[in-house]
Amino acid sequence: MLHYFLVLSSLVATIFAENAKDFDGMRLEFVQTLWRHGDRAALDELYPIFESNWTFGGGGLGELTPLGMSQMNDLGTMFRRIYVEEQQFLSHRYVGKEIYIRSTNVNRTIISAMSLLYGLFPPGAWNIQVNSSTVDGIDIAHETQVIQSGALLNELFDRAQEKANCIKAGRNCTGFLKPLKFYGYSSHDLVIYALLVSLGVPDVVRTLDGWPDTGAALTLEMYSNPDDQFFVKFLYRDNSLEEFGDVTARVCNRAAWCRLEDFERVARRVKPLPDLVTLCATPLSGSSSGSLLSYWISFFNLFLFLILVF
Ligand SMILES: *[C@@H]1O[C@H](CO)[C@@H](O)[C@H](O)[C@H]1NC(C)=O
Ligand SMILES: *[C@@H]1O[C@H](CO)[C@@H](O)[C@H](O)[C@H]1NC(C)=O
Ligand SMILES: *[C@@H]1O[C@H](CO)[C@@H](O)[C@H](O)[C@H]1NC(C)=O
Ligand SMILES: *[C@@H]1O[C@H](CO)[C@@H](O)[C@H](O)[C@H]1NC(C)=O
Repeated sequence: MLHYFLVLSSLVATIFAENAKDFDGMRLEFVQTLWRHGDRAALDELYPIFESNWTFGGGGLGELTPLGMSQMNDLGTMFRRIYVEEQQFLSHRYVGKEIYIRSTNVNRTIISAMSLLYGLFPPGAWNIQVNSSTVDGIDIAHETQVIQSGALLNELFDRAQEKANCIKAGRNCTGFLKPLKFYGYSSHDLVIYALLVSLGVPDVVRTLDGWPDTGAALTLEMYSNPDDQFFVKFLYRDNSLEEFGDVTARVCNRAAWCRLEDFERVARRVKPLPDLVTLCATPLSGSSSGSLLSYWISFFNLFLFLILVF
């Protein structure tokens, strides 16, 4: 009980200590997200069930099933609800320059990406011919199956940093990142799990086998305030039915908004390449601002609590 109260109280403290005015007028600038492909068929035939016995359809061994397509379509629809409707961040209709999606070079992640795009921009929201390539913006061949999480986390950070620099440079920034708003990776359980480990939150995975479920996804949102300070939020959903939950406070030393500099610290810790054993034994380094103050405020909260309750 005391433990829970301490956690709660220091969360409250962090919110106050981090100087609420920094968070006024927060504006969403950039979204990076990784999802695990949808439900797939078995990778191998296993006696006594052979491919010829399948009743659910699908493309064959290891391929995305119709359920998997529908899960990814749902995730796309969820992204549409959040980023098109609620946040009014992405355009209503597909705009190739805003969206970029990378996929590992296997059919189930490629089809997952296409199914997701179909949910994000349903027919009617296309301003492109159906016969033109609906996989515009999917860079299919670039990935290898094995992505090292340290390198990947740093890639996510570097891209966020470059995007922030681009925003600060205003007109002087002209590159690919300028119009880009949404960068997706159509990926695998192993990749997402490794990232969660390097973010220090592997326990958000609650499946029985310990791997992120099909349709699980990790999203990094980057925001700016009117002073051109940049902040990141880390969001995770553990399966194809969940909403995203905010895990920023756990990744970023209890901060409700993770300063880009603090994200850098988390990312650099695992650079260039961690072995998981060392990594798991490494404690999170402290965030720069507000932590001592929030410590004292939580102490004060506890004090108040004790006075009020006892
Ligand atoms: C699977 O299909 C084969 C024929 O393709 C059939 O001989 C076998 O009995 C079926 N197995 C099951 C478990 O239905
Ligand atoms: C991917 O799908 C294509 C056709 O849709 C098929 O020819 C190919 O064998 C599949 N690749 C794998 C690795 O299963
Ligand atoms: C797509 O349709 C347009 C007109 O409807 C046609 O000119 C074009 O050749 C088609 N492209 C392909 C790849 O079929
Ligand atoms: C853009 O570049 C010009 C020339 O290098 C420089 O004077 C100006 O300050 C830059 N603007 C911004 C917003 O960085």
